[in-house]
Amino acid sequence: MKTAHLYLLLHVLSTASVLVNAFDPITTSVIVGLGATLGKTIYNYLHESCDKKWIAFNATGLKTDLDDKLFGQHIASRIILKAVSGFMSNDNPKKPLVLSLHGWTGTGKNFVSKLIADNIYREGMDSNFVHVFTSTLHFPHPSQNATYKSQLQQWIKGNVTSCERSMFIFDEMDKMHPGLIDSIKPYLDYYDKLDGVSYRKSIFIFLSNAGGERIVETALDFWKGGRDREEIELRDLEMSLSLSVFNNNQSGFFHTSLIDKNLVDFFVPFLPLEYQHIVQCAMAEMKDRGFDPDRDVADKVARDVVYFPKSERVFSVKGCKTIASKLDYFT
Ligand SMILES: Nc1ncnc2c1ncn2[C@@H]1O[C@H](COP(=O)(O)OP(=O)(O)OP(=O)(O)O)[C@@H](O)[C@H]1O
Ligand SMILES: *[C@@H]1O[C@H](CO)[C@@H](O)[C@H](O)[C@H]1NC(C)=O
Ligand SMILES: *[C@@H]1O[C@H](CO)[C@@H](O)[C@H](O)[C@H]1NC(C)=O
Ligand SMILES: *[C@@H]1O[C@H](CO)[C@@H](O)[C@H](O)[C@H]1NC(C)=O
Ligand SMILES: *[C@@H]1O[C@H](CO)[C@@H](O)[C@H](O)[C@H]1NC(C)=O
Ligand SMILES: [Mg+2]
Repeated sequence: MKTAHLYLLLHVLSTASVLVNAFDPITTSVIVGLGATLGKTIYNYLHESCDKKWIAFNATGLKTDLDDKLFGQHIASRIILKAVSGFMSNDNPKKPLVLSLHGWTGTGKNFVSKLIADNIYREGMDSNFVHVFTSTLHFPHPSQNATYKSQLQQWIKGNVTSCERSMFIFDEMDKMHPGLIDSIKPYLDYYDKLDGVSYRKSIFIFLSNAGGERIVETALDFWKGGRDREEIELRDLEMSLSLSVFNNNQSGFFHTSLIDKNLVDFFVPFLPLEYQHIVQCAMAEMKDRGFDPDRDVADKVARDVVYFPKSERVFSVKGCKTIASKLDYFT
């Protein structure tokens, strides 16, 4: 990156020096034109724009990241790789990609969203084309749902108008007002264009804890049966997941036609994390900080974590969420 910038700068300087030496008007205008093109190139180089230079999907990158960085989520990992790769390699998708990630707290839902963004946008989560909405932050007052509704619709429309490869992440979707969810429905549907804007190349990701308890129940059943966690398959979770989400009147998904109309392409379950995954998270965090990963420290951290249910103590109550701060304590 740095050398590329330097190279460009040298290029500009050499062009400028040619400019100084050239006096006849034709050459000058050619050079001015060249300079303008070059200026545009440099601008495009330094400022994120909606083109292939800044937005290019790296399928191997996503696979490597999911394999190496996401722990204990064999189902989520497989679905996401397939869904995102399939969608990004299709030049003419029929509808936007809509993923709904469900699971217990601290199991990697936000983390996976980041991995996806990292492998599509060169700027990752910092990209101007990645938008995160958090219900409790952006839409806190149910009484203002009408205002939120038009605001959100304008944002989505405005952002997709400026770049059709936009990504929208809705965090804490279960705390979102059902009316607000209904208001984004048109954008997720099979429309060629809405008011002249096509949403078909955008990605929508919903994050929630809805269905988390049911996923835990299934995982616990497998554990009690002495079966390997990796034996859990999507179909073991899929039905109970979507039904429990649908039937829970506390959830923002309640009776919304998102599910009715099959607008969500993939429901992605995140399994609760066990001791071994907490160790992996601690090792990864140490590596991230530039230390040599120390298994003893990782074990100390993992032993300090609280597990549930009370009698079996299998799953981490907060997943991998507090590992970073615990690590400060043990190192
Ligand atoms: N499965 C996992 N593999 C690797 N790291 C993980 C995993 N789950 C969580 N982590 C780590 O823990 C941190 C917190 O996880 P994350 O924010 O993704 O949880 P979440 O599922 O969004 O939880 P919540 O439902 O509370 O929002 C992540 O930044 C990541 O470092
Ligand atoms: C894609 O990701 C792989 C693995 O992280 C990396 O080695 C490769 O350089 C990336 N490709 C591009 C074009 O960025
Ligand atoms: C906002 O919420 C109230 C009740 O919470 C409801 O009566 C009203 O219809 C909602 N308005 C919109 C625009 O969804
Ligand atoms: C895009 O979305 C952001 C919120 O993430 C909002 O602040 C901004 O105004 C939107 N842009 C347009 C052009 O609507
Ligand atoms: C939600 O459902 C439960 C039972 O499933 C019921 O007791 C409760 O009154 C319902 N709440 C609302 C707001 O409808
Ligand atoms: Mg989260």
